[in-house]
Amino acid sequence: MRLDKYLAQTTGLSRKDVKKRLHAGLVKVNDQEEKDSGRHVSSEDVIILDGERLSEPRARYLMLHKPDGYVCSNDDPTHVTALTLIDLPAAEKLIIAGRLDLDTTGLLLLTDDGQWSHRITSPRHKLPKRYRVFLDEPLCPDAETLLQQGIILRSEAKRTKPSQLQRISDTEVLLTLTEGRYHQVKRMFAALDNRVVALHREQIGEIVLDPELAAGEYRDLTEEEIASVFKEKDNT
Ligand code: URA
Repeated sequence: MRLDKYLAQTTGLSRKDVKKRLHAGLVKVNDQEEKDSGRHVSSEDVIILDGERLSEPRARYLMLHKPDGYVCSNDDPTHVTALTLIDLPAAEKLIIAGRLDLDTTGLLLLTDDGQWSHRITSPRHKLPKRYRVFLDEPLCPDAETLLQQGIILRSEAKRTKPSQLQRISDTEVLLTLTEGRYHQVKRMFAALDNRVVALHREQIGEIVLDPELAAGEYRDLTEEEIASVFKEKDNT
């Protein structure tokens, strides 16, 4: 990361104030005075500002409204990754906590805190994820019962965990899952002889996609949103 970005991130100073301090000779990198704002620094460097050693930049926690057509991987040869929408230093290093398919839209959580991400994705914590699902055909009348019992997905032996269904219309439902198998929502409705035509994730645990965010926009999570992930009960 550039030194001026590092200083701005760790101290909250504006880039202009950071520059002034650099020019005034108040910054040391590994015991050497440093005036070059563009110098690259890493976690191995000891950075001192005005006699005070700075700690690592705080971990980042973001929500992104993922648009259709962006892939949830750090590099993909054929599609644009969702991380390119994040205009922050070292955005490519962010972890996507719970991926979505290329054509799925909605709530994506991004962080560089591996433990926090694990809390979201680990099946052990059973964090509920709510999806708005648009179907090709009217949903069968016994869907609630079947989803509550669990469904055997194609080429899998184990039933899905009970999931909650709320009907909005014949072809639109809200589905809440506590697990995240590969293409799970699409495969669950395929097992009910239906087809998902559009899928949108609205909520993970207590974190709801901010309605102020247009597709492609992101924001920092609030302290409450960050902490909420640890509030969920361990149903182990
Ligand atoms: N289930 C799916 O089938 N796709 C997603 O993107 C998320 C859940």
